[in-house]
Amino acid sequence: MITLRNVSKTYPIKGGHKDGARGHVKVVEALKNANLHVPQGSIHGVIGLSGAGKSTLIRCVNLLERPTSGSVTVDGQEMTRLSSAALNQARHRIGMIFQHFNLLTTRNVYDNIALPLELMGMKRAAIRERVMPLLELTGLTDKISQYPAQLSGGQKQRVAIARALASEPRVLLCDEATSALDPQTTGSILELLRDINQKLGLTILLITHEMEVVKSICHRVSLISDGELVEEADVGDFFTAPGTQLGREFLNDFLQLEPPKGLVERLEAEPGEHTHPVVRLAFSGDAVSTPLISRLARDCEVDVSILQAKVESIQERTLGLMIAELLGPAEKTRQAIDFLESHDLHVEVLGHVQRDD
Ligand SMILES: Nc1ncnc2c1ncn2[C@@H]1O[C@H](COP(=O)(O)OP(=O)(O)OP(=O)(O)O)[C@@H](O)[C@H]1O
Ligand SMILES: [Mg+2]
Repeated sequence: MITLRNVSKTYPIKGGHKDGARGHVKVVEALKNANLHVPQGSIHGVIGLSGAGKSTLIRCVNLLERPTSGSVTVDGQEMTRLSSAALNQARHRIGMIFQHFNLLTTRNVYDNIALPLELMGMKRAAIRERVMPLLELTGLTDKISQYPAQLSGGQKQRVAIARALASEPRVLLCDEATSALDPQTTGSILELLRDINQKLGLTILLITHEMEVVKSICHRVSLISDGELVEEADVGDFFTAPGTQLGREFLNDFLQLEPPKGLVERLEAEPGEHTHPVVRLAFSGDAVSTPLISRLARDCEVDVSILQAKVESIQERTLGLMIAELLGPAEKTRQAIDFLESHDLHVEVLGHVQRDD
């Protein structure tokens, strides 16, 4: 439904010096050779730190920013090749919502939602037929005549969602749509987005810096760093075992699952003669309900000292996470790690600590 091929975007730096030798204006490479495919009906999240290029990426999808190079295809149409009239038409099929809602303060709820339809030249009665069910869908029926100043943040975002849906788009782009909201309101907006995705089969591309958003509604996630898409995975896999250091940092911040500080200071990278491994275990599916730790003790003759443990629900999957020391002779702890891996656990050796005895 959305395909980006080798999309790059550079911005000239305002007041940037000319490079005298070549006469080039200095630029920021906000997006570097991005490739992304979002299939119809899926919810795809792009997560990254501030300034990583998230807004640039999403604004390149509906050409609010024109890519410097590369191609963007939405719903079978190559956006980057369209004339401006055709691009205007194509944009009706792409809704967008923003962090700060971008409502017109002088229009009430109904008129905000009706605006894109008025601009399309639709008749009043037809507009009403579109707007009323959207008020219902977004839970705003009793706010129909209120003005933005009279609404809470969550209600304003609901109006923005209804407005984005008015032109019956195939795709919804969300630029940090919940970043200005408290956690509870965030939850209700994400629930609405999930509902829209299921009821209308709408494809959603959202960008965020919050793992919670990715965890609660995304099917797949990409990680963006310094203008590059550095990792892409199914959400369950990403939360089990991110493939990059940045991914692990996002996950650790989110889970708050770190080995105790005193232990971290004693961790050594390489095993020694009298050390034992400290491991981070991630397990999902059947492994969660299998008594693997007691089997480890019995079958591998290794003792397990659990330092931290947590169970998270990632959509329909249950994910268990644990930081543990494996106590036993080197040969046995190696076997124990093999045993765990053979039972589909993701094992990361965080380091080795000296035995106290
Ligand atoms: N219009 C612009 N002109 C010049 N530079 C820009 C422009 N828009 C963005 N940039 C630069 O491009 C880079 C990426 O910016 P972008 O807004 O896409 O990041 P972001 O990931 O959305 O950040 P945030 O989380 O803070 O919103 C930054 O270095 C930014 O300063
Ligand atoms: Mg941004």
